[in-house]
Amino acid sequence: MKYLIAGNWKMNGTAASAKALASGLAHKTGVSAAHADIVLCPPAPLLPIVAAEIGQGLIGLGGQDCHANEKGAHTGDVSAGLLKDIGCSFVIVGHSERRADHGETDAIVKAKAAAALKAGLTPIICVGETEAEREAGKTATIIARQIAGSVPENATAANAVIAYEPVWAIGTGKTATTDDIAAVHGQIRNLFNGEGKANLRILYGGSVKGSNAQAILATAGVNGALVGGASLDLEDFWRIISACP
Ligand code: PGA
Repeated sequence: MKYLIAGNWKMNGTAASAKALASGLAHKTGVSAAHADIVLCPPAPLLPIVAAEIGQGLIGLGGQDCHANEKGAHTGDVSAGLLKDIGCSFVIVGHSERRADHGETDAIVKAKAAAALKAGLTPIICVGETEAEREAGKTATIIARQIAGSVPENATAANAVIAYEPVWAIGTGKTATTDDIAAVHGQIRNLFNGEGKANLRILYGGSVKGSNAQAILATAGVNGALVGGASLDLEDFWRIISACP
């Protein structure tokens, strides 16, 4: 199955930097074929700027979040249908920063993922334990709860992606060991109830960078990466893409 490398820009960038980063990446994919599917997830106002630079080609576009409802009085929110309308094919849901900053529960994440599926977007559904949960030996329990609660019944390997992001590894420079990553990815694949679980793309996220990408991407059960900080650096992001087997 083809690897997927998604760049989550979070709340970073300007119109100018987005244009430069997206056009730089489009140029690189034009010169040497990428081994992976690539998706850029910039802040919502930058989506049209990135869309204009990447064209219809090899790089996909994704939102960082969507609302569970189709439309209405939800100031500041973005619907899955609008993301689709402006050219997105993916949307991240349930990122730990959304869960922590906005109190998003598994039920909310599931409703958002369902809205994404209904709109024809591929949700990238994020799960992951905190440091305290890992230290207390609760990783497997937390992952099981999040998968059971956040993944819609109609999700399949063909229409959804799961990202395992240990919260303590995000933006900290710490990464899980490849043994731990393999164990959790195996657990997620076992727990996934949708059709085609053998082909489900499970991404790892948390301080992935050029220097550690090869080892992480070669780990059993890893089918790509969700990259935060390093996706803002064209050369480092390209190193990650190039590390896909
Ligand atoms: P990071 O973020 O690569 O900066 O650790 C990953 C993420 O939160 O998706």
